[in-house]
Amino acid sequence: MNAKTDFSKDANHAQTAPAFLSVWDMHSYYGESYIVQGISFNVHEGEILALLGRNGAGKTTTLRSIARLGNPQVLKGEIWLDHQPLHRMSSHEAAQAGLGLVPEDRRIIPGLSVEENLQLAQIQPPVGWSIERLYELFPRLGERRRQEGVTLSGGEQQMLSIARALARDIKVLLLDEPYEGLAPVIVDEIEKTLTHIKSQGMTTILVEQNAVRALKLADRAIILDTGSIVYDGSASEVLENADLRAEYLAI
Ligand SMILES: Nc1ncnc2c1ncn2[C@@H]1O[C@H](COP(=O)(O)OP(=O)(O)OP(=O)(O)O)[C@@H](O)[C@H]1O
Ligand SMILES: [Mg+2]
Repeated sequence: MNAKTDFSKDANHAQTAPAFLSVWDMHSYYGESYIVQGISFNVHEGEILALLGRNGAGKTTTLRSIARLGNPQVLKGEIWLDHQPLHRMSSHEAAQAGLGLVPEDRRIIPGLSVEENLQLAQIQPPVGWSIERLYELFPRLGERRRQEGVTLSGGEQQMLSIARALARDIKVLLLDEPYEGLAPVIVDEIEKTLTHIKSQGMTTILVEQNAVRALKLADRAIILDTGSIVYDGSASEVLENADLRAEYLAI
């Protein structure tokens, strides 16, 4: 490889680093609506990738496509997670293959305590973090283990939703706007846990409206605009590039 090769696209990794999660030429539709228009990107093992873009850019659609939710339909493209072809799987199979999606609405199950929500996630092996270890990660959840999950504060519900993903043996964590509606001190707390999870080797895709926060935490960033990737590179470069931020993130 030529020494003058442009490394800006992937500044934190050698160009030879194998991708852990790889999305190749993915096209996604809601019925007739063509939303994700042929995107390709890689996520490396152990990194945090910020997936950014304005409202309606296609961030949630991208996460739902990777998680194989069926709506949207992925009509073309490949998605590989640790050598497994997610594009050939149902959402259930993708979850079994190690996909952990934490959706925006958190989906805490009514009528179940915090602990029961976590136990339910572990009904089917392979099991991930033990419940005790999850309480060490989120002490607030341990204190409220007997409380009904849906009666927790917004921040605690977000923690439970992340904990529930980790309770399964996942390879990648997809977070859709985890900071939404939360007070800055709670966001601090969640950021701290995401850093800890990363130190344990987790690979994460973080979708956030709070782009500055996400960029400070992330290793790399992808910016989507009307279903196409307009930037793929280091997170710090986006923070330093006012034009890029103004054009695609409105910050
Ligand atoms: N269920 C659906 N049916 C039809 N169109 C949809 C559906 N969900 C989203 N869309 C459209 O797809 C496009 C991308 O939406 P998406 O939710 O992926 O954007 P986003 O980047 O997550 O936005 P936000 O920041 O508002 O969450 C938008 O134009 C949206 O109107
Ligand atoms: Mg969204």
